[in-house]
Amino acid sequence: MNHFLDIHKTDAGALRTMIDQAAAMKQARRDRPKGAPDDTQPLAGHMVALIFEKPSTRTRVSFDVGVRQMGGQTMVLSGSDMQLGHGETIADTARVLSRYVDLIMIRTFDEAVLTEMAEYADVPVINGLTDRTHPCQIMADVLTYEEHRGPIAGKKVVWTGDGNNVCSSFLHAAGQFGFDMTFTGPAQFDPEEEFVGLARSKGSRVVIERDAARAVEGADLVVADTWVSMHDAQSAKERRHNMLRPYQVNAELMAHAKPDALFMHCLPAHREEEATSEVMDGPNSVIFDEAENRLHAQKAIMRWCLGV
Ligand code: CP
Repeated sequence: MNHFLDIHKTDAGALRTMIDQAAAMKQARRDRPKGAPDDTQPLAGHMVALIFEKPSTRTRVSFDVGVRQMGGQTMVLSGSDMQLGHGETIADTARVLSRYVDLIMIRTFDEAVLTEMAEYADVPVINGLTDRTHPCQIMADVLTYEEHRGPIAGKKVVWTGDGNNVCSSFLHAAGQFGFDMTFTGPAQFDPEEEFVGLARSKGSRVVIERDAARAVEGADLVVADTWVSMHDAQSAKERRHNMLRPYQVNAELMAHAKPDALFMHCLPAHREEEATSEVMDGPNSVIFDEAENRLHAQKAIMRWCLGV
């Protein structure tokens, strides 16, 4: 069963194939007349359940559109409207859904919900974000980096601010795709030690640097993310902002990176907080390419899951 649960749990060769296939499908779509369907419809006859226990714009729309472009159909389900985990065990929901659909994508809070869903489902399960990781986003980010600058292997990626779930998946990707990562932020927001160790064990150079300007020196890619994630208590907002403000990505900070360093943010962003509009809308920003590439990367992920 090809579940796509996390980047570090997926074979590195398979990840590379997915990125290359995503790039090829993106190009093929660009080459055909506007409005024409994809040449191949590998998901024809397939039904995909998209379950959201948290809000989403990009994940929801890109999965829905991606399935339809490949000839499949979707069912978008809200966790609050289902019996998921309250009226019924996750295991039973997984078994029931497997009788109706061919593939399940779930965005949830607790990673345990995802893993239980995968354990009991008879169809592949895709991680659409948990409190701990966001692998689909980072597959899109690798695709985005490579289409602008070539292979990401050996490059220096700098993560600024909160070592959150998206940062965790970047660390997983560092190990699998062979790039180095520097984290810069307050110690309280350090990325998970387990994931830092995992990246290092695969040969990635991972550095923790409290000084943002020093961290960004020589960076090929600078990444920012929101300072208060969906799963963080809103009551902690002011304290988090005060601690993370020195890590804002602005023009002054970007000046320490390589002149052609890219800027990424998975969105949604809080402009003038974690990053300034000057950087977000600047010539080195690829934030909307990242958003578009969710579509292409996830189409390849779904094909890999289904073997089509
Ligand atoms: N980046 C991302 O996952 O966006 P959504 O929360 O809108 O899906």
